[in-house]
Amino acid sequence: MPTDWEARYRNADAPWDKGAPHPALLRWLAMHPGRMTERVLVPGCGLGHDVRAIATAEPTSDVLGLDIAPSAIAAASRLDHPANAAFVVGDLFDLAPEHRGRFAWVWEHTCFCAIDPDGRDDYVRAVARSLLPGGHLLGVFYLDPYRGDHRPGGGPPHGCSLEELAMRFVQSGLFAIVESGVPSITYPERDGRERLMLMQRSRAMITDPPTR
Ligand SMILES: C[S@@+](CC[C@H](N)C(=O)[O-])C[C@H]1O[C@@H](n2cnc3c(N)ncnc32)[C@H](O)[C@@H]1O
Repeated sequence: MPTDWEARYRNADAPWDKGAPHPALLRWLAMHPGRMTERVLVPGCGLGHDVRAIATAEPTSDVLGLDIAPSAIAAASRLDHPANAAFVVGDLFDLAPEHRGRFAWVWEHTCFCAIDPDGRDDYVRAVARSLLPGGHLLGVFYLDPYRGDHRPGGGPPHGCSLEELAMRFVQSGLFAIVESGVPSITYPERDGRERLMLMQRSRAMITDPPTR
């Protein structure tokens, strides 16, 4: 059954929300000042902690948080945010024309793992579609979210091997991996379970698979 993200926010059932930006994002921004400027897209931004962090660290950036759940976007918009941060309800897989080919950066954090594994190639194409040719995807990918009762097939977050992740992005012909490593800082329960990756979008055309 697909996840009803709107219902999860309405029912205050959002355990992924840590009430603060991802620590690895804060560290990356501190170590790369002046890098994540221009237009930045944060798909599946939830309550927008990462959006506000990027907009605050890089005042010349123009950061857009996108989420399919109207309640998340309403809550994010109500929180204090700098003028260069904005939020919009939208589906990453059905990007509005004004959001296609517009972003120099995409920041990924627990959107990829929220998507059904069958939709991973669509995710790769959707992110590529949002980026300018040569634009960058920086992401902290939650590869191993399984513990206790949460097993593969049990709904999001969905785990992914590093090999599959690299294969999906690189074999699409749309991305090259620039850097990849275990983040040096994260939430305590995610230690060693994530991968911080910087990828660059190629200049290849984005083709959709034929409809059957
Ligand atoms: C696990 S939550 C992570 C939220 C946020 N990144 C965080 O870490 O707090 C996944 C988010 O992706 C959003 N989402 C799921 N499918 C989406 C889609 N197709 N387009 C945009 N957002 C989507 C959900 O509404 C949810 O807010």
